[in-house]
Amino acid sequence: MEKLVITGKTPLKGEVIISGAKNAAVAIIPATLLINGVCTIDNLPNISDVKLYCDILKDLGSKVDWITDHKVVIDNTNITSSVAPLEVTRKFRASYYLIGALLGRCKEAQVGIPGGCNLGARPIDQHIKGFEALGAEVEVSQGNITAKANVLNGTTIYMDVVSVGATINIMLASVLAEGTTVIESAAKEPHIVDVANFLNTMGADIRGAGTDVIKVKGVKELKGNAEYSVVPDQIEAGTFMLAAVASKGDIIIKNCITKHLECVAAKITEIGGKIDANGDHLRVWCDKRTKKANIKTLPYPGFPTDLQPQIGVVLSLSKGTSIINESIWESRFQYTDELRKMGANITAQGKTAVFEGVDELYGAPVSATDLRAGAALIIAGIAANGTTEIYNLKHIDRGYENIEEKFRKLGAKIERVQEEE
Ligand code: UD1
Repeated sequence: MEKLVITGKTPLKGEVIISGAKNAAVAIIPATLLINGVCTIDNLPNISDVKLYCDILKDLGSKVDWITDHKVVIDNTNITSSVAPLEVTRKFRASYYLIGALLGRCKEAQVGIPGGCNLGARPIDQHIKGFEALGAEVEVSQGNITAKANVLNGTTIYMDVVSVGATINIMLASVLAEGTTVIESAAKEPHIVDVANFLNTMGADIRGAGTDVIKVKGVKELKGNAEYSVVPDQIEAGTFMLAAVASKGDIIIKNCITKHLECVAAKITEIGGKIDANGDHLRVWCDKRTKKANIKTLPYPGFPTDLQPQIGVVLSLSKGTSIINESIWESRFQYTDELRKMGANITAQGKTAVFEGVDELYGAPVSATDLRAGAALIIAGIAANGTTEIYNLKHIDRGYENIEEKFRKLGAKIERVQEEE
């Protein structure tokens, strides 16, 4: 069993380069299925979710050639199946994009119902509503979701919930549909814009991505033969920003889009950290104890739920009483149980957690309950006194490229260790 061993109380110093966005990558890879040809994707993060998605594509008949660790050429000329490997897709949340992409390409799709994850219920009713509005028949049974259509016709779809996944999935299903699809109350996250930019580069006609009304004018085909570079990861950048603050460090974060980080930067400034944004990089530093704050997670451009556990570590150490209200996921406070083992004083109930700031955290054995919880525990370990051991690393490896290497370059004392079973 692998674990991360961190010896803490190290102020982070130096520079870190941000990788391509995980959440954009796991949408763009299935989006390539809409191209009856070849395309090249660059700046992919080297993480297990990306590798897994490329393997799923191979199962469907794609030819996948890695040119470097971050660049892949995908040839989807000979897609042989619209049935995704059901067991794999059941375990992998972002496999829901295969439904929209295969429905768009083949007019049919079968995918294992993207299942559990540790954040609570993750319904896909809005995805299904969108496919049905476009004319597909969708059946959910025996752990699988099957969608079929003779023809997909553009229409106006009013989303009941602001959903990243449903917005992208409806975009995927409508790119090759007849006529125009309008998505009202669309999500606006940076990776939605990135997926739209990718599809437009390949010949799609999508307007309004990044606003709450997206218009997709169906085209006959996507041309391919183009190269696209994935947007930098806003959540990875935010993770390092909050690590700099928690450790009372001073770091430069390179290859990020500072506009995407304004909300996090504002919160860091509010609690006493310092930010200097300059083009595609940010300096973040903190030289005193941070203050309390109240936070409510919201869809973009609000405070991202995917940075909630990381700022939770900062608030655990901030002076005073802070409150976090998690409005997106019902079970996103599991990390607080782990932080309590390190001396944090947090009471979490339902979607609210109260943080009574403590002077110090202390190293302890803890377990990553999900991807962002894992990142939060690394930050806690770096800020804490003594030695922290983090188990259950598979969650962290799904979404962060070379995370211990990047933190080590910033001066953290962090090692991946193989432990005897
Ligand atoms: C995406 C991100 C995830 C992030 C989340 C919110 C990817 C691969 N994952 O997840 O990291 O935490 O956005 O920013 O990009 N909902 C419904 N019905 C639906 C769909 C969603 O009720 O059909 C609800 C969810 O339960 C949740 C909210 O809408 O409360 C937002 O979910 P959504 O934006 O869809 O999250 P994901 O796309 O799954």
